[in-house]
Amino acid sequence: MSRKQIIIGLFGFGCVGKGLWDVLEQTPGLRANIRSICVKDHNKQRPISLDHFTFDKNDILNNQEINIVVELIDDSEAAYEIVSTAMRNGKGVVSANKKMIAEHLEELLVLQKECDVPFLYEAACCASIPIIRNLEEYYDNDLLVSLEGIVNGSTNYILTRTSEDNLSYEAALKLAMEKGYAESNPALDVEGYDAKFKLTLLLAHAFGIVEKPDAIYNLGIQRLGALELRLASEKGYKIKLMAHAQRLGKNNVAAFVIPQFVNGASRFYNVDDVFNGVQTETSFADKQFFMGKGAGAFPTASAVLSDISALSYDYRYEYKKMAQQSFDLTDKFSLEVFVRFENREDVPTSDFISIAEKYRSKEGYYIVGRIRFDKLRSSAWAGNPAVSILLTPDSSEEICEVSCSTNDCKCSQSIM
Ligand code: HSE
Repeated sequence: MSRKQIIIGLFGFGCVGKGLWDVLEQTPGLRANIRSICVKDHNKQRPISLDHFTFDKNDILNNQEINIVVELIDDSEAAYEIVSTAMRNGKGVVSANKKMIAEHLEELLVLQKECDVPFLYEAACCASIPIIRNLEEYYDNDLLVSLEGIVNGSTNYILTRTSEDNLSYEAALKLAMEKGYAESNPALDVEGYDAKFKLTLLLAHAFGIVEKPDAIYNLGIQRLGALELRLASEKGYKIKLMAHAQRLGKNNVAAFVIPQFVNGASRFYNVDDVFNGVQTETSFADKQFFMGKGAGAFPTASAVLSDISALSYDYRYEYKKMAQQSFDLTDKFSLEVFVRFENREDVPTSDFISIAEKYRSKEGYYIVGRIRFDKLRSSAWAGNPAVSILLTPDSSEEICEVSCSTNDCKCSQSIM
């Protein structure tokens, strides 16, 4: 198959943009070069000649020779504007902007069709792990049962450094920012929003579900306190921020982002630092595991490069799952959770289906128990910043669809 010559208009020259420049320099086999780079800041020192830059987006968007726009800027609304205009102007697009894609997925799907242009975004999800392409090509059947993963590099880096080096949360976050792992607004990382944006993309390719990120529940790592960190170390657990998507019943999928205690038997236990890991489970093949660097200039640029290379062969996503069985997100399932709180009345035990453990000390209270997800999601206490909620180590194996009559709840994991 012959490869198309790719002439790139690049938006953004931050950590990933510069990384892409360097990676392309070292990939002469790819028939791709950057014609122009659009940046915002006139006064910033640039590591390459100013001749490569423009400050006017139309220099790229209206340039007939440029056939691919690579969008690597921070501002998600400006990015949407650029990406949609590029598509309307007949250009293929590569983007790493998970927030923009997650928030505008529906419109972007329509635009791709209307404009008949490819739009690839492997770098937006787990950076160096080729998970979207695998979901598209290998898991394009209805056998996928679940997908779970550490999909945010910064939080994993922070959790690793605080537990292994005894760094403070603030110091670890500062390091994650210095290394170019964190978002420019790191609240998106630590509060679980970045992981949720990625889960939104994964749901589209894994199960054909197109939902706004608001439909997905997310908790982050910012509420973790000394008690649960100590408990994790005493029990030989680690804490990881996990994204979950699991089929339940015939047409339902449970999806959420919640931190979790992970034990040594889990493959996620050794996914540390800036690494991400994704585990898929299918009906007949059991579990498969992907691991790779989830943030940073070169891991992200390598995924962008792979998309550019794929475009040189005219590759495009087919979103096969959307044409197959239709799945909906469900809130009707239960989870086993650990909940730590300050005052006895903060968390009513009557909200739980069952309680496995209760603990009280000078540091506060905790409960381990099974709770209906819809109850957790709607309860005021779960939104209290002083309440910390984690999944227990076996929770992912035991997500089950619940049907309740008064207090009698039945739990089923069947997907038929
Ligand atoms: N802030 C993101 C992360 C960057 O830490 O995973 C890569 O998407």
